[in-house]
Amino acid sequence: MTPKVELHLHIEGAAPPAFVRGLAAEKGADLSGIFDERGAYRFDGFLDFLRVYEAATSVLRTPRDYARLTTAVLDQCGESGVIYAELFLSPDFCGGRDLSAWREYLAALREAAEAHEVEMRGIVTCVRHFGPDAAKETALCAAETAGDFVTGFGMGGDEGRGTKRDFAWAFDCAREAGLRLTCHAGEWGGPQSVRDALALGVERIGHGVRAIEDRALVDDLAERGIVLEVCPGSNVALGVCRDWRAHPIEKLRERGVPVTISTDDPPFFHTTMENEHARLAEVFGWDEGEFAEIHRTAARAAFCDEATRKRLLKALE
Ligand code: ADE
Ligand code: ZN
Repeated sequence: MTPKVELHLHIEGAAPPAFVRGLAAEKGADLSGIFDERGAYRFDGFLDFLRVYEAATSVLRTPRDYARLTTAVLDQCGESGVIYAELFLSPDFCGGRDLSAWREYLAALREAAEAHEVEMRGIVTCVRHFGPDAAKETALCAAETAGDFVTGFGMGGDEGRGTKRDFAWAFDCAREAGLRLTCHAGEWGGPQSVRDALALGVERIGHGVRAIEDRALVDDLAERGIVLEVCPGSNVALGVCRDWRAHPIEKLRERGVPVTISTDDPPFFHTTMENEHARLAEVFGWDEGEFAEIHRTAARAAFCDEATRKRLLKALE
């Protein structure tokens, strides 16, 4: 199996439905409404996806729950040949936003990660539709725990909410704490959303696929070497793209934009890293050499220390 580097994976969004059902049963919570008759997550469109996602997180109530989730998620990564994964960690979902216990949640999930063969780093992530004040508090959580495990800061959620200026304080705070920055943009928002994210000082963009609508922006991304964390299966499942063939990843790559491949929230989109590779090979005819180059791009853009990066690049040879 090709070794893989995954840069864009939400820890809660990677929770297998059976795992969430198990926690719900333990805690006596009724989450039956978020699953279909086959036990998969059920949602209709992006905003409903966010609602179901947040409902699923409501059973993540203790540090131990996060430790178990970490192990389950890294197991899935390993099964797809992922050797290094960056996980988005949202203090907003830990114990229903118990920020006072953030360090305990982080310590538990870090311990689980360090016991796993898949190497992991955390990107603390604020949720755009929870608003700028919550984002500031989340950035402070990130800043307080910045180090060799929490190495980045980002923002997900509903791209239609708020303006760039609303979140500048949070990104500045994280940068000053030494964190590296990424932001979801150009998934639901158009090219201007990507420009706004760049103005926050990010070095990578989560998704970014709608940059394809603006020639000058594509050239700018290519020239500056801004890495896109592209999640094709997510884009197709949520309706950002009509189908796999219509996905802009190939055009972006041809135009010199550094693209990488990730799964975003794999069980929600019925995907895995293996599946993403199989579909991309089938639709665009990519071969091992092309995938290897893409994973080297991911390793070069990873928010990790140089010794780890060197080790990853060697493993990808
Ligand atoms: N949070 C989890 N998945 C997301 C996505 N695809 N877009 C925005 N926020 C998210
Ligand atoms: Zn995402």
